Amino acid sequence: MLKKIGIIVGSLRENSFNRMIANTIPELVDSVEYEYISIANLPLYNADLDHGEGPETVMRYRESIQRTDGIIIVSPEYNSGIPGVLKNALDWSSTPTKTAVLIRKPAGLIGATPGAKGTILSQQQIRQTLDAASSYVMPFQKMYISQVLDKVDSESRKLTDETTRKYLQRYVLSFMQWIDQVQRLNE
Ligand SMILES: Cc1cc2nc3c(=O)[nH]c(=O)nc-3n(C[C@H](O)[C@H](O)[C@H](O)COP(=O)(O)O)c2cc1C
Repeated sequence: MLKKIGIIVGSLRENSFNRMIANTIPELVDSVEYEYISIANLPLYNADLDHGEGPETVMRYRESIQRTDGIIIVSPEYNSGIPGVLKNALDWSSTPTKTAVLIRKPAGLIGATPGAKGTILSQQQIRQTLDAASSYVMPFQKMYISQVLDKVDSESRKLTDETTRKYLQRYVLSFMQWIDQVQRLNE
């Protein structure tokens, strides 16, 4: 059976570079089923709303993650850290404590920026949050995309830089192996 990878984009911006990167993934590795999981309509986390299945948008969001074999987060960096909308989404997927959908879920991290440092600081914080939520972030490969303006085509809204496309393809193929390794850990 085909693996299913959920893709979460940490930017809500219509012309998001990170979304362009995310949209390129399926054409680089087509032996996987993908689901883009939206975080745009999630309410701000409030423990008072977090009982039973929670609000309907949260319930559907959690079910989407549950259906996947692993999630790849493609996110910008804001003020040297994790964008608030993404932190909010990850908080919603970290409860209920014992049955949360991120527990033991393989996760991959990708980030793109027009700047020079490739979202390193943001990825550190995302990794910290995913660690706290008991998911397994792929440890042996990193994907930082800097100077992204030179690497995408704004018409097709895809990643066009050949070297970066190769890195991205290799990252996703490694992530598929990571899913297998985590499945063995979980047995
Ligand atoms: C509030 C804010 C803070 C930002 N802080 C950083 C930062 O710390 N590091 C960085 O590389 N880029 C930073 N940027 C620039 C973003 O990388 C840039 O806006 C990028 O295009 C956002 O990703 P997106 O195109 O996927 O929406 C910041 C942008 C905003 C709006």
